Amino acid sequence: MLAESNGRVMTFAGRETLDLTDHGSIEGLIAAVAPSAVINAAAYTAVDRAESEADAAYFLNRDAPAAMARACAARGLPFVHFSTDYVFDGALGRPYTETDPVGPTSVYGSSKLAGEQAVSAAGGLAATLRTSWVYSRHGANFVKTMLRLAADRDELSIVADQLGRPTWARDCAEAALLTADALAATPSLSGVYHLSGAGDATWADLASAVFDISAARGGVSARVKRITTADYPTPAKRPANSCLDCGKIEAVLPWRCRPWRDSLAACMTEMEL
Ligand SMILES: NC(=O)c1ccc[n+]([C@@H]2O[C@H](COP(=O)([O-])OP(=O)(O)OC[C@H]3O[C@@H](n4cnc5c(N)ncnc54)[C@H](OP(=O)(O)O)[C@@H]3O)[C@@H](O)[C@H]2O)c1
Repeated sequence: MLAESNGRVMTFAGRETLDLTDHGSIEGLIAAVAPSAVINAAAYTAVDRAESEADAAYFLNRDAPAAMARACAARGLPFVHFSTDYVFDGALGRPYTETDPVGPTSVYGSSKLAGEQAVSAAGGLAATLRTSWVYSRHGANFVKTMLRLAADRDELSIVADQLGRPTWARDCAEAALLTADALAATPSLSGVYHLSGAGDATWADLASAVFDISAARGGVSARVKRITTADYPTPAKRPANSCLDCGKIEAVLPWRCRPWRDSLAACMTEMEL
């Protein structure tokens, strides 16, 4: 699919165009499109299912970005790759910087970390953007799930002891495009960056904010019962704190983290809520 925005022509390669389990087709598509940069937002993102499907997670999260990074490096193309806050163990008492030690607690986090390392090893113009708690009007995500569940229930039990930074996919997309430009102009900017909304939240805080905005606009709402991680066991262990410090990317891009409540309200406007 082709789209044009702010003078950029973008080719979007979804599953129907590019099967990422076929690494030859990655090389073939990049050769055929001859882009000026490549951005990879595809991944194996089923965090709990990954615990029992490690091979599939590593194939998508390590081997596919490795193939993209090698194809870009061979052509001197900037490559922007998304990774995750789940590369950290969550034990730190402050937001994580890019130099803090990693320590994933799940197969998903480990496979994404292996992807970061493979991208770096390819040696080209490459930036890995670790993001967190992403939502948008597209696809399945926490914000849409809350709105769907509130249509049928008066009260929802939501985890209130995991801390993170909610991020609107549109903010990520803008930063990714600027990162590709920056890499082309300044190859030494290759490396890992943190990219999220500004301000900390628990999942319960995020749910409450969704319902506050929705109710104020005449939409669905539900009471939020704050529960602990122990009350809601999952196959994959999540970090208790995965707040990302975005100072590094803000220092090199003409881009600023937006307060997460502002981005959430803007996203819900885009969703016509
Ligand atoms: N969502 C979050 O909260 C979050 C947090 C931190 C980091 N991230 C990272 O941000 C990036 C985007 O995440 P997301 O939430 O947008 O993920 P998502 O909604 O699960 O989207 C992943 C995309 O990858 C595509 N894909 C999966 N397997 C494929 C294959 N074999 N061939 C071609 N395409 C395939 C999917 O296609 P289909 O739609 O056809 O399945 C989907 O479009 C990922 O790198 C993720 O690790 C996300």
